[in-house]
Amino acid sequence: MISTIQNDAKLNSLRAYINSHKEMTRNDSLLIRVLQKAQEIIGYLPPEIMNFIAQEMSIPRAQVWGVATFYHYFFLKPVGKYIISVCMGTACYLKGAEKILKAFKEKLNINIGETTDDKLFTLIEARCLGACGLAPAVSINGTIYGQLDEKKAYNIIKKYINQSK
Ligand code: FES
Repeated sequence: MISTIQNDAKLNSLRAYINSHKEMTRNDSLLIRVLQKAQEIIGYLPPEIMNFIAQEMSIPRAQVWGVATFYHYFFLKPVGKYIISVCMGTACYLKGAEKILKAFKEKLNINIGETTDDKLFTLIEARCLGACGLAPAVSINGTIYGQLDEKKAYNIIKKYINQSK
């Protein structure tokens, strides 16, 4: 029973996606794609949706939960309008990613995996954004900002706050 999901159209859309991949083996790589699709449609992965996926794919719930909780890009709780991924990969780490992460945490008053009370920002860590030449780098909803220092980090937040007014 999917009680907290208001919109049946979303579930139907997810079911259609799963059915369109019926011929594929029920392995973790398909499961990741289904979870990505679910997150794209719903915004995050509430328990009801993970149970729905397990049922529709005829796989154990533990498998769905295991994959969803293993990867940092799956959200188990509602997220903010802007998702800030601070790269902690080697190149960024060596160029001061920890300071950048600290700056975001202090400015937003949240920890990794948390969302600001105004639901504007969610802060997460990434392993590599594929922009090592711009280290230290962050991605905000897919837009890359590079060669950051604390001041630039603050200014970026300010920019997004102003955009949302
Ligand atoms: S290590 Fe940060 S972008 Fe590659």
